Amino acid sequence: MALGPELALSEIADGAIVAHRGKIVDLGPTAEVLERTTPGPDTRMIDAQGRAVLPGLVDPHTHMLYALDRMDEMELRHQGRGYLEILAAGGGILKSMRDFRATDDDTLAARLLERLKEAVASGTVALEVKSGYGLSLKEEMRALGVIEKVRKLTAFPIVPTLMAAHALLPDVEREAYLKECDQAATRAAKAGLAKAADVFVEEGVFTPEEGRRLLTHARQAGLRVRLHADELAPSGGAELAAELGAVSADHLTAATDEGLAEMARAGVTAVVLPGTSFFLHRAPLAAERVRQAGLIAALATDCNPGSSPFRSMAMMVALAFHQNRFTVAEALTMATINAAHVIGEALSLGSLTVGKRCSLFVLSGEDVRDLVYRPGAPLAWAVVESGRVLIGQGRPTEEVATWTIS
Ligand code: NIG
Ligand code: FE
Repeated sequence: MALGPELALSEIADGAIVAHRGKIVDLGPTAEVLERTTPGPDTRMIDAQGRAVLPGLVDPHTHMLYALDRMDEMELRHQGRGYLEILAAGGGILKSMRDFRATDDDTLAARLLERLKEAVASGTVALEVKSGYGLSLKEEMRALGVIEKVRKLTAFPIVPTLMAAHALLPDVEREAYLKECDQAATRAAKAGLAKAADVFVEEGVFTPEEGRRLLTHARQAGLRVRLHADELAPSGGAELAAELGAVSADHLTAATDEGLAEMARAGVTAVVLPGTSFFLHRAPLAAERVRQAGLIAALATDCNPGSSPFRSMAMMVALAFHQNRFTVAEALTMATINAAHVIGEALSLGSLTVGKRCSLFVLSGEDVRDLVYRPGAPLAWAVVESGRVLIGQGRPTEEVATWTIS
C-alpha cells in the first residue's frame, strides 16, 4: 500500500472489542458485539465512555539502550557545531560508547526500563531496541543481553536489532572491526538475541560497500536487514537499501528522489524520524516527496541520547503532521500497521483485527485529531498490551510497577 491522499481510517462509532488470552476475538458495533458475547464471572469490562480507541502505537526504530544523556552536546549544537563534527572530535556516539562501557548491566537495564515506561505511557505497545553503543564484539553482545533481560522481565514486545556498525572507534582498525560486526551477527542470530541488523551508511561513517558486505553477511546469518540511510548527506544508502531489498531504510532526509524511487520499486519501507529533524534543527523529509516516490512509510522516535531523546510515538504523530505535513490518517497508519511491518509483526499488531494482539491506545478524548492538536499533552487514558492493562485512568498500573531491577 502506497500512502496516498485517498487513505482513510476506518471507524466504528460506538464500538466494542472482546479479547481472550490477549488476542482480539470479536469487534464491531457495541450492540452487535454484546449480542454475540456473554460476559462470564471473570470477564473484565472496561467502559471507555466514548473515548477514541486506536491500535496501540508501534515504535520500529530506537536506540533506547544507553547509559547517560548528552545535554552538553545539545548546547554545542545550539552554538553551531555539527553532529558529525562532534562525533569526529570524540563526542556523540563515542561519548555514549564510553558511558555504556562504564555502566553495569543492571543499571543499563533499569534505565532502559524507565524509558520503556515513558513510551508505554504515551501509547506505545511494541518497540524495537538497537544495540550500538558497545562498539566491540563483546560489548555489543552485552548490549543484546541487557535488552533480552528487559524483554523477559516485562514480557513486553521488544524486538532487538544488532547495530554494531553504528560507528568506528578511532583506535580500531577498519577491517578488524568489520570482522567483529560479522561475528556479532552470526552469534546474535544463533542465540536469538537479534531479529535484524542495521548499519549507519553515511559519509564519514560506513560506506555503501561496507554496508553491502555487512548486511549480506547478516542476512545469510538469518537476520533481517535495515539501514540508517542518507541522514546528513546523500550517501548511497537509499540505493543500497533498494539493491538489497532491505526491510527498511531510515532517516532519508538527504536521500535523492531517484534513491527514494528505487526504494519504492524494491518495496523497502521508508522509516521517517521527525524527532531527529526537530532535535537537530534540520529540514524534515517532506510527506510530498514520500507520496511522489510512491513509498510505503513508517514512523519512529529514533529514541537516542544525541539526536532524538523522544520516547513518545504520540509526539511523532504530531510532528509528522505539523513538520513533514503528513495527514492524520497517514501518520497513524505509519505509526501502527506500517511500523508493525518494519519489526516483522504486521500479522500480530498494528490494527484492530480479530486474531491480532489486543493492544490498544485509548485517548483521553473522543477525537483522534487530539493527537496532533495537543502535542505533548498526556493523551493516554488507557494503554493495553496483549490484553494487559498497563495504563489505566491515565496512570501506570500495578503490573508496570513490578517492572523493576532488584
Ligand atoms: O539514528 N545516526 C545514527 N544514529 C543515531 C544517533 C545516535 C546517537 O547520536 O547517539 C540516529 O540518529
Ligand atoms: Fe537511529
